[in-house]
Amino acid sequence: MPGTCVVGLQWGDEAKGKLVDILTEEHEIVVRYAGGANAGHTVVSDGQTWKLSLIPSGILRDGVTCVVTGGVVLDPASVINEIDGLESRGVRIDGKLLVSDRAHVVFPWHVAEDKLLDGSLTGGESIGTTGRGIGPCYRDKVGRSLAIRLGDLYRPEFPSQLRHIAGLKEKLLGVGLDAAAIEAQYRGYAERLRPLVCDTTSFLLDAVEAGRKLLFEGAQGALLDVDHGTYPFVTSSNSSGVGISSGSGVPGRWIERVIGVVKAYSTRVGGGPMPTEQDNAVGQRIRDRGNEYGTVTRRPRRCGWFDAVAARYTARLSGVDELAVMLLDVLSGFDELKVCSAYRIAGREVRQFPSHVDDLRQAEPVYETLPGWSEELTAVRRYDELPENARRYLARIGELLGRPVTVVSVGPDRVQTILRPSASTPNAWPRHPHSTPVNA
Ligand code: GDP
Ligand code: IMO
Ligand code: MG
Repeated sequence: MPGTCVVGLQWGDEAKGKLVDILTEEHEIVVRYAGGANAGHTVVSDGQTWKLSLIPSGILRDGVTCVVTGGVVLDPASVINEIDGLESRGVRIDGKLLVSDRAHVVFPWHVAEDKLLDGSLTGGESIGTTGRGIGPCYRDKVGRSLAIRLGDLYRPEFPSQLRHIAGLKEKLLGVGLDAAAIEAQYRGYAERLRPLVCDTTSFLLDAVEAGRKLLFEGAQGALLDVDHGTYPFVTSSNSSGVGISSGSGVPGRWIERVIGVVKAYSTRVGGGPMPTEQDNAVGQRIRDRGNEYGTVTRRPRRCGWFDAVAARYTARLSGVDELAVMLLDVLSGFDELKVCSAYRIAGREVRQFPSHVDDLRQAEPVYETLPGWSEELTAVRRYDELPENARRYLARIGELLGRPVTVVSVGPDRVQTILRPSASTPNAWPRHPHSTPVNA
């Protein structure tokens, strides 16, 4: 069976982009199935840094087809900007990128609505969205009457459809919209994107039936999943593993391997509870060492200890087989490290992740304390070269989540990666994933 998925198990930014780039070597097609320009994925190789948002991180390799499916909300200006940026740096896009005609299109009114409504939760709290119009575009998709899909841009009814919706949006939002200017702008985008637009569902179904190897690139993290995350402090799509099929149209039976990606600690951008947050010198040290500032918005990320209750929940939810523990190098120099292995809620110790955000707010982390290590890890390339306490830390995370740790990342670069075949997937890793050989 041909599918592998990389899914973030925390609140996003787990370094999914780095892992997807490495795994692209052994896949033919890389697929984005959810989210939009709220994602910011980073790949570092040969001294160059690449920031990807809507385009799958597989685009940097030759011989790979990248697919943006109908589960994604597409801001055409954003994707065109990304294409131009990649091409100007010598990355070939032609014939390598497909975009679904079912993808819902982000319009200026979505961005306006996002800004207007963030901060209007009951009690005046803010979700702290990325301001990219993601929530309003998904809301219109589900609501149907105010939605425009990419395929609609090529149809004769598009001008009247746009004017009708823009008129309603003006009334609903109390803003002025120049429908004629928006129409001209989006016609321009449509012409530019025309060669890429197709029915990606059929393309992917043909691909899996032909035995081609697919890699699904999760965006956001499973704790931001609209149905299963820390609602309402979530994004508006199924960002956990449960969204792969609905977003891409590929049945789950084709996915044979799910890799859950975690940071060696926790981060979160935006509002909502985060039980292990360290709003103190510990959190600041993690932020400084991990350069924990948002890729999309540059907001400082909230930082804290590893939360095994949350990650165990999302690993189970996403059907995770194995774990990639990223940014382990950031934790060097702490005398002791804490891992949250249970919550205390209303005097009771629980290991089940609460379904209501108010219960999560009350959760006091129950910590295990593990010994730290002082050595810098960025030059380590073999698992057995890691300090004993670092190996002990990884082993404990694996135990608490009930899955083997098969990837350890010790720096942003492709080469700063330790790949360990697991018993369940002995031949799973590319034989030559890097310019420098790495092994278990
Ligand atoms: P994504 O959204 O999950 O792809 O992750 P982001 O790109 O938003 O954030 C991950 C950040 O960590 C990026 O700046 C990466 O270059 C960086 N990074 C990835 N792996 C490592 C690592 O092992 N160590 C360190 N120090 N940084 C890393
Ligand atoms: P990647 O793919 C981290 C967060 C926002 C906000 C909430 C809702 O890079 O991991 P939205 O704009 O989606 O309506 O915002 O979700 N968020 C992310 N946080 N990484 C991301 O993506 C995120 N995408 C959305 O900060 O709290
Ligand atoms: Mg990111």
